[in-house]
Amino acid sequence: MTVRLQDMLGGVWKGEGRGSYPTVQDFKYTEMTSFNHVGKPWIGFSQSTKSKESEAPLHSESGFIRLLPEGNIELAVAHAFGIVEIYTGLMEELEDHLILKLNSAAVVSSPSAKVVESTERLIEVYPDLLRYRFLMAIPGYPHQLHLEAELKRA
Ligand code: HEM
Repeated sequence: MTVRLQDMLGGVWKGEGRGSYPTVQDFKYTEMTSFNHVGKPWIGFSQSTKSKESEAPLHSESGFIRLLPEGNIELAVAHAFGIVEIYTGLMEELEDHLILKLNSAAVVSSPSAKVVESTERLIEVYPDLLRYRFLMAIPGYPHQLHLEAELKRA
């Protein structure tokens, strides 16, 4: 299963997403994410996004998916805007795709960054299609959708 995820993700993906939250205006973005592995039980990734409307750079993050026994996974992500996240979760193997379900174990903000209380990622990986949803809670706002996107192998 570990090798299957590495084979399915490895390479460059491009696509589009949309974002929302009660405190911000809805937005659309383009994304490029590249995944790499070197035969060890982790997959590194680096993501960057741009506003679909103005093409101005938006969010950027990079990190590692750590592959553990029995479908357990962890995710460590560092964001350009001063937040670092650690997730724990599970990978489910279905006939034609994999589903990764991850919930934050820790979200830490630098002194100048926004505070985020919890995060969650749901990722579906098909041979040439990657879909994800990202949910978060910030102070005063319950855990809810911030992003959903669909990427294709570039
Ligand atoms: C594809 C990735 C992402 C994109 C394109 C994106 C885009 C945006 C945009 C355009 C805004 C509104 C304007 C602004 O405050 O800059 C925003 C707000 C915000 N985003 Fe994201 N975001 C992404 C991922 C994330 C992630 C992973 C987190 C948390 C770990 C996050 C946390 C926040 C927070 C806390 C706010 C401000 C909410 C508030 O204080 O009202 N975003 N995001």
